[in-house]
Amino acid sequence: MWEDCLIKVSKAVPEFKTSQNHCDTLPPPSLPLLEGGATSPLAGGTEGGRDSAQFGRFIFLELPNSGHSFELHGIYQRTKTYMGHVLILGATSDIAQALAYRYAQEGYNITLAARQVNRLDNLVSDITIRHQINVELAEFDALDFDSHAPFYDGLSSRPDVVICVFGYLGNQETAQADFAETKTIIDSNYTGAVSILNLVANEFERQKNGAIIGISSVAGDRGRGSNYMYGSAKAGFSAYLSGLRNRLAKSGVQVLTVKPGFVRTKMTQNLKLPPVITATPEQVANDIYRANRSGRSVLYTRWMWQFIMLIIRHIPEFVFKRLSL
Ligand SMILES: NC(=O)c1ccc[n+]([C@@H]2O[C@H](COP(=O)([O-])OP(=O)(O)OC[C@H]3O[C@@H](n4cnc5c(N)ncnc54)[C@H](OP(=O)(O)O)[C@@H]3O)[C@@H](O)[C@H]2O)c1
Repeated sequence: MWEDCLIKVSKAVPEFKTSQNHCDTLPPPSLPLLEGGATSPLAGGTEGGRDSAQFGRFIFLELPNSGHSFELHGIYQRTKTYMGHVLILGATSDIAQALAYRYAQEGYNITLAARQVNRLDNLVSDITIRHQINVELAEFDALDFDSHAPFYDGLSSRPDVVICVFGYLGNQETAQADFAETKTIIDSNYTGAVSILNLVANEFERQKNGAIIGISSVAGDRGRGSNYMYGSAKAGFSAYLSGLRNRLAKSGVQVLTVKPGFVRTKMTQNLKLPPVITATPEQVANDIYRANRSGRSVLYTRWMWQFIMLIIRHIPEFVFKRLSL
């Protein structure tokens, strides 16, 4: 449950200065503040006060006809409403970790599944301390198909939301010469995801509830010479999610296809990415959370990729094949 706390601030932006004394209904000291002390979120006072902009967990309201007076509704955490349980597959990924924080912030309990769960101990402690939710760990290898059924059946908490994040960019040139690399790319981005999501889909269809979120890629929208092994596997994954959505819509299950453009993560650390169209993992996580909550089907993140890919998809083949992409 989130509790609104009214704080009166006498001075307008740019510098909000207040203290707990300004709050008529401050919660008792034992009640934990979500972020910092009462004054710290006010450092962002310039963000608020314009209208009813939201800043962090605090909402600034401009009082009509009030000149320089503002009211600040600080939102304090008493106890969080249980929002559900999220299973994140491929939890050592940078995007996965940003997702874990985003869902935890909203009150979801989380299972982090990865092939090396020991690398997640610090993350678990940090999320648990910050957000007072339950975090579980589970061993999961997307390439070990036979382990998927026992893994999924053996989870100690049944998920309401499953996010399939794992993926492997691989090396296009190596893959052209060596089918083993090609197969790892296909299995890491397509076959492994299909194997685990088939199980999730059957359960969610039976219970007529749930959300399946698959992280595909804009690379799947059109094959390019420089990464068509990865792109074709992601294209297959996007088509799989599209069909799954069509099947599960009748059961009230959301299937969300996420198509990130460039994201600054371990996967792209050796690539030179144009900053304007490159997202942070946190931006991607935020977009995904909002798309999940609003019941969307397909998400391009950042938003401009929808238009970039619209253009790229429509370049005639006789032109496209001459481009070095
Ligand atoms: N970064 C981008 O620009 C970008 C753009 C479009 C789409 N994407 C997609 O976004 C997703 C997340 O990638 P990221 O950018 O966050 O990169 P990342 O940090 O490199 O994450 C990739 C993750 O996949 C995991 N993984 C690979 N093979 C696995 C397997 N067999 N079993 C379990 N986990 C496995 C890796 O685990 P280990 O730590 O054990 O290796 C790693 O945690 C991927 O699906 C990627 O294709 C990324």
